[in-house]
Amino acid sequence: MSREFSLAEIFQLGYYWETKILLTAVKLDVFSALDGKPKTAKEVAGRIGAHEPTLTLLLNALVPMRLLTKEGDLYGNSSTAEKHLVRHSSQYIGHLLVLHDAEWNNWGKLEETIRTGRRPVDRHVFETDPELGSNVLAVLHRIGQQSGPDLAKRLKLAGRERLLDLGGGAGTNAIAFCRVYPELTATVFDLPATLGLTERTVKEAGLEARIALLPGDFNRDTLGGPYDVALMSDILHYQTFESNEALVGKVFAHLAPGGRLVIKDRFLDEAGTGPAWTTAFAMHILVNTQQGGCYKTGDAMSWMTKAGFTSVTELEKTAVVQGVKNREA
Ligand SMILES: C[S@@+](CC[C@H](N)C(=O)[O-])C[C@H]1O[C@@H](n2cnc3c(N)ncnc32)[C@H](O)[C@@H]1O
Repeated sequence: MSREFSLAEIFQLGYYWETKILLTAVKLDVFSALDGKPKTAKEVAGRIGAHEPTLTLLLNALVPMRLLTKEGDLYGNSSTAEKHLVRHSSQYIGHLLVLHDAEWNNWGKLEETIRTGRRPVDRHVFETDPELGSNVLAVLHRIGQQSGPDLAKRLKLAGRERLLDLGGGAGTNAIAFCRVYPELTATVFDLPATLGLTERTVKEAGLEARIALLPGDFNRDTLGGPYDVALMSDILHYQTFESNEALVGKVFAHLAPGGRLVIKDRFLDEAGTGPAWTTAFAMHILVNTQQGGCYKTGDAMSWMTKAGFTSVTELEKTAVVQGVKNREA
């Protein structure tokens, strides 16, 4: 039996003031305005175009949150803010917080969504704001450098030559996979607006000769190939069950005999109550996509079986599913 919550813990669960204070400060780019030497509220207000007395309240609230310091009437960035919240810092993660802020109003419609089943948006961020989408992918690419190599090694792809990274985003996985397997070449298929970022990351990795970029809409356009391995990483939760079923069937047709499809996603367990993060992510997908959802590994396995994959296995619980296409197929 789980222990009872204290009242303080219940209130803490329902508390979001500091969240919105941080998101607003990042949206207003307060931390970049404070880069360099400490400044008064008046100077910061002048730089970001804000109402000084109101901005002062915001700046004061950021001090006990340990994001700003205050000496007399001069505000400065804490070392954390300087490193992660100043725009030109190489470790800036603000794009991700700006995305959370952009989604704030959608979350405000959660009650209505649950009452009516109607969602507040008609497209997802990669379609509505490709620049923000790419900025967020760039942050995730930088902070998620370790997950790609780990996945590549676990999949044991030695001997495979052609990889399709479908909806490959910044190319994080394609780059990691090519580094782990020197004989591998990859195609990153993604929306044209996203591939500008991919071009940069592939170039930075020095892998232009081994990673090709293919622009298109994976639901409508041909995917090239044939491929020995296809990866669908974190793309299926933006789509309906039926679109995913059709997409998995389409990928099957673009795989060579003996080819493999690997789906990595945020799957829910059978009861739908775990993993904990994914249950909250399912709510995020509910209010921020027109038709996405968090599925179960059993769903992905059924899409694969229906497509014609013969050997279908869950490689990692609630995370990775693999299907192998028969050599005679
Ligand atoms: C959450 S990101 C995942 C990126 C990458 N696979 C990873 O795991 O890091 C989703 C990606 O799907 C792409 N995408 C969404 N809808 C698409 C579509 N209809 N056709 C092609 N790409 C699409 C987006 O541009 C984005 O790069």
